[in-house]
Amino acid sequence: MTVAKSINRYCNFFRYQGAETVLDYGAGKLRNSRYLAEQGFTVFAADLPDQVERFRDLPCSDALAGGFDTDQLSHARLNVDLVLSTYVFNIISGSAEKDTYVANIVRNLKKGGYLLMEVRCRRPDSCGDGCTHYFNHADCARTFTHQELDSLLLPHGFRRISHYYRKHAVAAIYQLD
Ligand SMILES: C[S@@+](CC[C@H](N)C(=O)[O-])C[C@H]1O[C@@H](n2cnc3c(N)ncnc32)[C@H](O)[C@@H]1O
Repeated sequence: MTVAKSINRYCNFFRYQGAETVLDYGAGKLRNSRYLAEQGFTVFAADLPDQVERFRDLPCSDALAGGFDTDQLSHARLNVDLVLSTYVFNIISGSAEKDTYVANIVRNLKKGGYLLMEVRCRRPDSCGDGCTHYFNHADCARTFTHQELDSLLLPHGFRRISHYYRKHAVAAIYQLD
């Protein structure tokens, strides 16, 4: 499994910023955790309880500094330099669950730390930014623009410092003030 494109693109940036500790939040099968551990970062991985059980059985989980389910994360204070969130926000549909997810990021990220978020973006042939039927339209559901990510993250103390689009995805870096 290859690492997420945004991590390839921004890995050196985070290194130059002095990042050493990373939380891969919604780590899935650990493709990004494994890559960053190989690059010398100290990596914690978190996911829903069932997925944590699954990834603990993967050989590459030995490279992790720790694994957490979402409940444990809401009581932890990891104080990491960087949180990764790749293709997780797309599959969280409820706003309460999204709020909990963002609150857990803020809780475990140090002040001045970075959040890298990569999500599916809208295709040009879908409704576009003005769609008001967001979760009811198949083409628009569970996709984001960078402005929509801003509206979810800026109220929590983040500011966006970079973003880019590719065909089906948008990736953005935020810093916690
Ligand atoms: C599409 S996979 C992406 C996995 C990984 N980030 C990657 O890019 O390979 C989405 C992951 O998010 C996890 N997930 C879904 N809802 C979550 C939540 N509320 N909190 C944390 N993880 C969640 C899923 O269990 C799954 O492992």
